[in-house]
Amino acid sequence: MQVARTIREVRAWMKLARADGKTVGFVPTMGYFHEGHLNLMRRAKAECDLCVVSLFVNPTQFGPAEDFQRYPRDFARDASMAESAGVDLLFAPEVEEMYPEGYQTYVDVAGVTRRLEGAARPGHFRGVATVCAKLFNIVQADRVYFGKKDYQQLKVIQRMVRDLNIPVEIVPCETVREPDGLAMSSRNVYLKPVERQAATVLYRALCAGRDAILAGERDGQKVQQIVEQIIATEPLVKTEYVDVADAESLEPLKELKGEVLISLAARVGVARLIDNLTVVVSE
Ligand code: PAF
Repeated sequence: MQVARTIREVRAWMKLARADGKTVGFVPTMGYFHEGHLNLMRRAKAECDLCVVSLFVNPTQFGPAEDFQRYPRDFARDASMAESAGVDLLFAPEVEEMYPEGYQTYVDVAGVTRRLEGAARPGHFRGVATVCAKLFNIVQADRVYFGKKDYQQLKVIQRMVRDLNIPVEIVPCETVREPDGLAMSSRNVYLKPVERQAATVLYRALCAGRDAILAGERDGQKVQQIVEQIIATEPLVKTEYVDVADAESLEPLKELKGEVLISLAARVGVARLIDNLTVVVSE
């Protein structure tokens, strides 16, 4: 595995890859790898000749009171995990390489960012869309792999790629969970053992919402209440939002139909966790 610190190095590496006729899969990350990241890398490697991973804790997607400074970082550990997953190029730039002095350009995706994480974290998706547009232009991969754990992020990126005619295929990948259902996340390291145990309520609550829909419930508010009530049984978990929406537009649904997204955000200790499930409603 090669490590690149500059955009110039990535471009030179990609030029050789293209000259060799190779296809390239790309996994953008903020590092502190877990099985969810490795799953994306392995899939990219299985479906493309070469796999490029970026490791960049992107400052523009964090709010002023958020965890940019203390976001977990361990380059040596990440590099060795990426190498074991078969990654060919690891791009780990400094902030100045991505946002040099005088930087002024940002990408704003409208509609799909209006609610949920977009409302809870003003400016977050502007930072995500901007860094992803830059990374897509730098790497110019054939396919880019995103996990569905950050479901709204996936929708924002799909919208951006469509709207800006960026020539890349976005590949959505299933959320990877711990055996007890907790969605894997770099932020799970913030959890104390007792909070880690309490956090399992989130997936149980989502499953109860999904099961209610599968059992015939068609009232979005009722499903939301079922999920909220289960989370409320766990005193260490503070719900920020539980939402039931159309899985494509992310707009709220009163009467459930088509593909439905049940999503949530909650505080567990200092960690802010998000998770979701989608359900296809039968006619
Ligand atoms: O999902 C993440 O890790 C980040 O939001 C991403 C897509 C790498 C952009 O910084």
